[in-house]
Amino acid sequence: MKPASTLDYRAASRRRVPRFLFDYTDGGSYAEQTLAANIADLAAIQLDQRVLVDVSRIDTRMKLLGQALAMPVVLAPVGLGGLHARRGEVQAWRAARDAGVAMALSTVSVCSLHEVTQGGGAAPWFQLYLVKDKAANETMIATAREQGCPALVLTVDLPTPGARYRDVRSSLTGAPGLAGMLHRGCQVAARPGWAVDVGLLGGPVAMGNLTGLVGAKAPLSDYLGWIARNFDASADWDRLAWVRSLWPGPLIVKGILHPDDAALAVQHGADAIVVSNHGGRQLDGAISAARALPAIMDRLGGCIPVMADGGVRSGLDVLRYVSLGASAVMIGRPWVWGLGAAGQAGVAHVLQLIRTELE
Ligand code: FNR
Repeated sequence: MKPASTLDYRAASRRRVPRFLFDYTDGGSYAEQTLAANIADLAAIQLDQRVLVDVSRIDTRMKLLGQALAMPVVLAPVGLGGLHARRGEVQAWRAARDAGVAMALSTVSVCSLHEVTQGGGAAPWFQLYLVKDKAANETMIATAREQGCPALVLTVDLPTPGARYRDVRSSLTGAPGLAGMLHRGCQVAARPGWAVDVGLLGGPVAMGNLTGLVGAKAPLSDYLGWIARNFDASADWDRLAWVRSLWPGPLIVKGILHPDDAALAVQHGADAIVVSNHGGRQLDGAISAARALPAIMDRLGGCIPVMADGGVRSGLDVLRYVSLGASAVMIGRPWVWGLGAAGQAGVAHVLQLIRTELE
């Protein structure tokens, strides 16, 4: 049965990838209240229906930070997203390029920025996390410049990872010993297609941008532990100014929910922001992006482009964020579900569905 919606891809991905990977992607932090609110608050936005307007020709193209996009959609940075299919971020970026949309490659992607740029024939945006080792951040920014990334996305809502109960239950985190390995091994054995595609033929399974810091093998059994130890929880607004001084191109600050922070981001040199709560994976109980957006639009008064993400599952949801003033949206889980279910073709179809629905 051909998937008709992004949620069909969620179901298909669940059948194809091991449980620890599906749950890692699907889940949020703590009681997952903010994850649920992202979806519920977006769905609660009613759209005005007007009729007898000529809609025979619809043009979804737009310009964002000087870049032409076929529609106001960007593939969000998703850590370990590339684990969902062989050399996954390369496949996703190819689909994004073909569809005329942008993609932000995560700091903690499987494929390195170099591999993705080579594989896709152009550089994606690069998403930066602040780590304690400032020289490592300098190297990442320099690499993004060398590779020709059209934008740098600085994510500021993960000083330390939120507690994600599903990852403990699946033994993705907190299970470094033999018992954890066996538990994950059983989950892999239940998904032989993925085991061959990614486990056997898809290596190396590393954090491609971090091999200098982490080594050539991703610390899967202690992924969030590694992040907790190495991300810089002391970062403040001066660090944004520091990144600004190293990066001459468009700088996007992602993870803003409060109007005061939106104003501070502008003051410290942001060219755009993403109103986001990290897909409900960080501070549970935080406001949904759809509820946060109007006050931020009011405060900034259109001085820079404002993007939003969280809960976009259809083209209608894109329209909902745009109707609140967003220049564009990021989509996280849906592209990863497409990748897990059917690789590049799955991501391409997810984007096609969203495009058709938006039109
Ligand atoms: C994320 N997100 C994220 N954000 C970021 O800036 N860097 C990252 O490495 C990650 N990693 C990550 C992993 C997974 C599995 C998910 C689901 C999300 C957050 C992401 O960019 C985006 O903000 C949300 O995914 C948007 O919500 P939806 O579209 O998934 O509902």
